[in-house]
Amino acid sequence: MPYGYTTDPDVDSSTDRTMMIGVVLLFILVAAFPLYLLYEPGSREEARRVQLDSLIEEGSSVWEFSCAACHGEIGEGVSAPALNSQQFIQSSSDEQTRLLIAVGVPGTAMSAFSQDHGGPMTSEQIRAVTAYIRSWEEQAPDRPDWRDPGGG
Ligand code: HEC
Repeated sequence: MPYGYTTDPDVDSSTDRTMMIGVVLLFILVAAFPLYLLYEPGSREEARRVQLDSLIEEGSSVWEFSCAACHGEIGEGVSAPALNSQQFIQSSSDEQTRLLIAVGVPGTAMSAFSQDHGGPMTSEQIRAVTAYIRSWEEQAPDRPDWRDPGGG
């Protein structure tokens, strides 16, 4: 009889059962891992989308409160340029838009909005309103005259 082996049939069958359970558990783990890999990026993507949606929603109230009076309820432009315009949206990266909102355009009605520049807004609010403007991108009309919404 080789060392470590037993001929007791009870011990043998209980060892077999324990090993079988181990093998089954291992299979479950091995099968579950690819499923997890499939699911995980989707849930991260979903989380990003939810986060962006809530940023855009915050941005829409910022817009309503601080921007609509000059730029129009839906960005169509009143006394200030139309921002709901392919021409504007394509010409300005989010970074450029945030910077412009933060520091304003000196010598015009476009004041500085960031607290760093004496304005009322946090950088989060500036990020939010910029995301809101970006959310118009797909539907934004062709407005080559966006800088002169009153017409000329
Ligand atoms: C009191 C009126 C007024 C308010 C309020 C205002 N703006 Fe403006 N904004 C202007 C004017 C006028 C200009 C054009 C400045 C110029 O002549 O370059 C401008 C320009 C801009 C531009 C640059 C467009 C370009 O020429 O590239 C952006 C972006 C902008 N505003 C965003 C905002 C946002 C976002 C808000 C709200 C947080 C806001 N503005 C609030 C008057 C206003």
